[in-house]
Amino acid sequence: MSIRFCEENKTFYLTGKECSYFFRINNEGYLEHLYYGKRLSEENLSWMFEKMHCSFSPCYMEWKDISLNVVPQEFAIYGRGDYRIPSVLVKMQNGSRITDFRYKTHTILDEKPAISCMPTLRGGETLVVTLEDKVNHLEIDLYYTVYEDVSAVARRSVLRNGGNTAVSVLKCSSFNIDINRADFDIVALYGAPTREREIERTPLSHNISEVSSTRGASSHQANPFMALCDKTANEYNGEVYGFNLIYSGSHSIKVQETEIAFTRVSGGINEQDFCWYLDVGESFETPEAVLAYSDSGFNKLSQQFHDLYREYLINPNFAYKKRPVLLNNWESTYFDFNEKKLCDLIEKAKGTGIDTFVLDDGWFGKRNDDWSSLGDWFVDSNKLPGGLTAVIEKCRACGMKFGLWFEPEMISENSDLFRAHPNWHIAAPDIKACKSRHQWMLDFANPEVVDYMKKTVGNMLRENDISYVKWDANRTMTEFYSPYLPTERQKETAHRYMLGVYELARYLTETFPNVFFEGCAGGGGRFDPAMLYYFPQIWTSDNSDAASRSYIQYGTSMCYPLSAMSGHVSICPNHQVGRVTPMQSRMDMASFCSTGYELNLHALTEEDFAKISGHIAFYNSIHDLILKGDLYRLLSPFEGNYFSQMVVSKDKTRAVFIIMKLLAKCNDAYPFVKLKGLDKDKYYFIADMGTFKGDVLMNIGLRFPKNLKDFETKCFTIEAVKKES
Ligand code: GLA
Repeated sequence: MSIRFCEENKTFYLTGKECSYFFRINNEGYLEHLYYGKRLSEENLSWMFEKMHCSFSPCYMEWKDISLNVVPQEFAIYGRGDYRIPSVLVKMQNGSRITDFRYKTHTILDEKPAISCMPTLRGGETLVVTLEDKVNHLEIDLYYTVYEDVSAVARRSVLRNGGNTAVSVLKCSSFNIDINRADFDIVALYGAPTREREIERTPLSHNISEVSSTRGASSHQANPFMALCDKTANEYNGEVYGFNLIYSGSHSIKVQETEIAFTRVSGGINEQDFCWYLDVGESFETPEAVLAYSDSGFNKLSQQFHDLYREYLINPNFAYKKRPVLLNNWESTYFDFNEKKLCDLIEKAKGTGIDTFVLDDGWFGKRNDDWSSLGDWFVDSNKLPGGLTAVIEKCRACGMKFGLWFEPEMISENSDLFRAHPNWHIAAPDIKACKSRHQWMLDFANPEVVDYMKKTVGNMLRENDISYVKWDANRTMTEFYSPYLPTERQKETAHRYMLGVYELARYLTETFPNVFFEGCAGGGGRFDPAMLYYFPQIWTSDNSDAASRSYIQYGTSMCYPLSAMSGHVSICPNHQVGRVTPMQSRMDMASFCSTGYELNLHALTEEDFAKISGHIAFYNSIHDLILKGDLYRLLSPFEGNYFSQMVVSKDKTRAVFIIMKLLAKCNDAYPFVKLKGLDKDKYYFIADMGTFKGDVLMNIGLRFPKNLKDFETKCFTIEAVKKES
């Protein structure tokens, strides 16, 4: 059993695959966090934080020498002596923000109930602990879910107003945890458009550190992920705690070393400019947070996230299913296309193994540049006189399926939709909203707008044979004001917007269960677990330069499985960074994710064009590894001149390996790369190299060709064989 309550110690024992998470109800009814880490036996740990005190730490009861400022907690109340980051801030009608939540009851469920309006992980035994604030008639349910096959705990909270007056929720965290040590480093994934998810490591300090977005999107700049690790931790050693929010809006994960050298971590919706009007009898549900644990480095942490997301998050109809091999017209034509150009491209792709042609931006309204037409999701008959049908027919004739780009959350000022509904976009009264890429965001806090998009996008999918949709979102929010919401609910705008996005995504993915959806946000600006719930893969970055991708894909893999990342082979010089890399390197990098092409096939040399079918055959041959295997990161481009990783099948009989040299060097070292994750007793055959025993490959490694040129890759498969072969 993974969740147990010991009545005698008043302790909850939660056990994941290789981790334990223990907390107890202390004598005053507060939930005291005891332990999170490597799997432990279920001992009585109620002695751990007895009689802890620290000067200038007020006690909530004069005669009891207990201060909440030093007690490690599961959910931190505000205003009763705990000066650390609070988990909950509620403003009552009388102006008080002081709450005092204590244990009321708990239940253990076989299966986790879903949140009504947001994505969550599926399944898993779940503990629900209810805390109550008797003075203010508030209750909070804390949800904890554990999985037998993954070392992780999922957490979320639900706040209920059982009183007679409305209250204002200024903050409600998804989770809080107080760890009884502080010798940590913080690792986060920061970035920018075309430079998403770089890895940054900083020491934990007594100042609050925060990974956050205030953009109304999970953002290019700060992925909703943070890890705390041993100072000496690396990919394969040391304890690492990972925190990831299943949320695509403004988020915050804060961490702080406290005066007694403990660490508080707390995360959820960003409280900046947030306030939720909670009426009598209403509840507020937070997004879910994932807390993953590794006792041996970042690589194992990533494997926990990957397994968890593939098994319990990504749509099971697609999670392990062969992904489409795409040809996207964006970098080939941009807005400048017509039926003939598209059909010529499709014709050229025939027989290469590319199985889906995707028509990107520019097919609708009068969209000849990015100044107009968002919202007018009707085919531009000037560009496509035969409608989509002619293009779809061409795809069919060439043995391909058809995919289409939408940006359903956006509106252009120059659009029929804006002329018909001038108050349907996010904008504050009397102020012309800022534009970004010349566009505004639709007010998805308004259910009428969401319904309109359900109809409009839904009709396109109903009326045309579309097997794939790319859902883009090319700006973040400004003027956080919904013309639809009443005054007292204006600070709900950003979160309600996101709930509207989830509702549209839910509707479209449920109504069209066979359509494959890919997420996108100006490249990888909304690469988060909530998007992954609806969209089995996400456009990782607009930057598809092979060298840049080695960083982007390495960083993204910290949390997200390779199959969740899409990566395309594009033309050189690269459109984002101007770099020239070998065609083979671009193909190899794009093989270690969900692959596709985004270039003018006519512009390729005959020699490069001829390589495409070989690349796709190779990709298809390793695709089951990319979908289901265990990732091992071997060499980090952030730390040296090489990028290298491998993926090993769960039964350790097959693997695929890639290495890229970033810059060539004269008389460079002969690198040996130690492989990982193989069976030490099995023999493995590697074409052109020979047969080696697993322990040799893992302890000596393989020697690589000395003279790799700039950005050159080597990529090969590893097959277990009987010794005699
Ligand atoms: C974004 C996407 C690109 C492309 C363009 C179209 O930038 O990331 O892949 O779809 O929009 O406008």
